[in-house]
Amino acid sequence: MDVIESHGARIPNLGFGTMTLKEDLGAEMVDAALRLGYRHLDTAQMYGNEREVGEGLRRSGVKRDDVFVTTKVWFNRLGAGDLERSVDESLERLKLPFVDLLMIHWPNAQIPLAETIPALCKVKRAGLTKHIGVANFTVAMLDEAAKLASEPLAALQIEVHPYLDQSKILAAARRHGMAVVAYCPLARGKVPADEILQRIGRAHDKSPAQVALRWLEQQGIIPIPRTSKRERLAENYGSRDFTLSAAEMAEIDKLKRPGSRIVSPPQAPAWDS
Ligand SMILES: NC(=O)c1ccc[n+]([C@@H]2O[C@H](COP(=O)([O-])OP(=O)(O)OC[C@H]3O[C@@H](n4cnc5c(N)ncnc54)[C@H](OP(=O)(O)O)[C@@H]3O)[C@@H](O)[C@H]2O)c1
Repeated sequence: MDVIESHGARIPNLGFGTMTLKEDLGAEMVDAALRLGYRHLDTAQMYGNEREVGEGLRRSGVKRDDVFVTTKVWFNRLGAGDLERSVDESLERLKLPFVDLLMIHWPNAQIPLAETIPALCKVKRAGLTKHIGVANFTVAMLDEAAKLASEPLAALQIEVHPYLDQSKILAAARRHGMAVVAYCPLARGKVPADEILQRIGRAHDKSPAQVALRWLEQQGIIPIPRTSKRERLAENYGSRDFTLSAAEMAEIDKLKRPGSRIVSPPQAPAWDS
């Protein structure tokens, strides 16, 4: 699988998002994704499925070293001491000695970054994660986090899909040399119904979902689509073997429109991008 390199991390350029995939379905879909060729799994403390993700990984028989595993610390566990304890609990659920990428899931207005970022760096130095990153940070928070971090911030995870203008935060991530991981890359079901993406897809014998994922991949952004259906696992994986023209990329760029953010923060937002 192609990788995006960032501060020593080599992140497969397509991941499998696992939010909502729990119990038997969770382990089965992770196993199926890895057997199909996915090598990047995205979970989080908040998804309540770290056990299932670890179980699916073991069931697949794919070597641990060949899979890039991300988990995220929920916003209520960001205090010094508590962050470290929460990571120990995550690793216990995953039954892994370390993850490849540990992220702050959402900032917490009540806990200063000056406390959280050093705690995140400490967990990396202790060997519990190979790399660290943040999710759902604004440009200002990213700049502050980069100043506070004694270890490189390898990746930023944010909502990215054809309808949302993320140009400012994408530029900030690039400035900090961070890889960008796109959540909701299919705009939670809006992409498959899009007539423009359908038309572009027909020209390549591809689905609108494959077109939206390809549009991200061609920008060096790493999509992590989720599905509960095996046939869609294969469909989404098939986003990587065709090329959109510059004109098609530009046409998709024009789908951005105000009010397209899907995910709301667990606390009052402070978006500046
Ligand atoms: N950091 C954060 O704050 C954050 C927030 C949200 C999500 N995430 C991560 O990002 C991942 C992806 O985001 P998401 O799950 O919110 O949204 P998404 O991947 O954009 O959309 C998932 C939805 O699309 C459907 N789908 C998947 N493949 C499809 C295809 N080929 N054709 C048609 N429909 C398809 C799925 O339904 P079926 O199951 O029926 O296929 C599901 O309802 C999550 O699983 C999670 O790991 C992170």
